[in-house]
Amino acid sequence: MEADKVRGKAASLLGCDADEILLTSSTTDAMTTLSNSIQLREGDRVLLTDKEHEGGEVGWLYRERRDGIHVDRVRLRLEDHDPEDVVRRFRAAITRRTKVISVSHVLASTGLRMPIAEIASLARSRGLMCVVDGAQAVGEIDVDVKALGCHAYATSGHKWLMGPKGTGILYVSRDAAPIIEPVRWDLGKHFGSDSAGLGPITLAVGLGAAIDAFLRVGMSRVEERVLRLRNRFYAALQDIPQVKLLSPPPGPLATALIAFELPPAVSAERLQQRLEQRHKIVIKLSDQRFSNGNRFSPHVFNTEADVDRALAALRGELPPLMS
Ligand SMILES: Cc1ncc(COP(=O)(O)O)c(C=O)c1O
Repeated sequence: MEADKVRGKAASLLGCDADEILLTSSTTDAMTTLSNSIQLREGDRVLLTDKEHEGGEVGWLYRERRDGIHVDRVRLRLEDHDPEDVVRRFRAAITRRTKVISVSHVLASTGLRMPIAEIASLARSRGLMCVVDGAQAVGEIDVDVKALGCHAYATSGHKWLMGPKGTGILYVSRDAAPIIEPVRWDLGKHFGSDSAGLGPITLAVGLGAAIDAFLRVGMSRVEERVLRLRNRFYAALQDIPQVKLLSPPPGPLATALIAFELPPAVSAERLQQRLEQRHKIVIKLSDQRFSNGNRFSPHVFNTEADVDRALAALRGELPPLMS
């Protein structure tokens, strides 16, 4: 079936095999599938950060309520840009009962690229599962799940991949199969198996077309371009006195997602609305649990001129919002 071929395309994008891929309807769907597929007993512990997106953590919190597992958190400050220190804190937070580390690949709050290969290697050295919420990574940066070494990886088709809304991808590595057992795979892994039911074929085929487009261009070229655009944002945002950059400087921790904080008196929501209504520039409101701010997410269809126009609009709209 055409829809089943999409598993192969997703596998090419992520660097794994088709039989390690399950198509889902979102990252949240993939993460909750994961959290409900991992064998855990009462008293077992799962280690998250305190900066996870709700979609990446809701399944663990559900199991905490229902099955008596415990969710522990590694604290991350928004200005944390030291990967070795982050890994040290994960190491210190592992207990005898910790069974899983579940972490975002790219933090939605700051765009920080988490040191997943190091965290996965730490998890493996302690016999833990490492699962990754890659909603803000795939389609933006070059993701190779085998190189990362994680046991499972979840992402969306409708974010950076620009595929149809209602699509997602879950990778479960073959070596994790005895521990992570999605019920949807119980009677076969193919799309529309008797245990998965017939999924949304049109959406799956649309996701395949989106992945094809990225494979044709090549993810390394996509990444190189979006990082160039974000670095242009980064350089200019440093000189705008009303904003505080939260994203890491150019370098290995940077991604295209570039977040800034505003003074408490400025409404991030009003800024977002003004940029959209007056300038047709769409920016995202940051997660207000963590900061009063916004983020830019330049993608392959953007140009340097777009970045400059967005910065000019920001410079013009900020002063009146301060008063
Ligand atoms: C890190 C992260 N995880 C999960 C999600 C939820 O994604 P989805 O809508 O595909 O469930 C988001 C959405 O922005 C996100 O940023």
